[in-house]
Amino acid sequence: TYVVTDNCIRCKYMDCVDVCPVDCFHELEAMLVIDPEACIDCGVCEPECPVEAIRRDGEDDLERWVGFAREQASLAPVITRKGEPPADADEWAGRPGKFEVVFG
Ligand code: SF4
Ligand code: F3S
Repeated sequence: TYVVTDNCIRCKYMDCVDVCPVDCFHELEAMLVIDPEACIDCGVCEPECPVEAIRRDGEDDLERWVGFAREQASLAPVITRKGEPPADADEWAGRPGKFEVVFG
């Protein structure tokens, strides 16, 4: 599966949403997650993210993120169209440790 990681948090640009052929993105208030059961590994979303938040599981140790995505996807609604990113999205781009700040 592909997986959304830390840098999406409070950036949430949503360029990834429109290209997904199987609509497997789910929307949380602070970020999006990919439903690992629905993702078909096509990879087209990865280059769309301007802050490189999307990664392929297996390239890195992303098990924590896949588990988070699985849990959250069962709770959060599917999103199929790009919406308006947060007004302060650019200020959050590249900040380290966003998960702990927002979800900790
Ligand atoms: Fe959707 Fe393909 Fe990205 Fe998976 S890899 S989330 S199927 S666009
Ligand atoms: Fe997040 Fe990047 Fe998509 S910031 S919403 S993964 S385009």
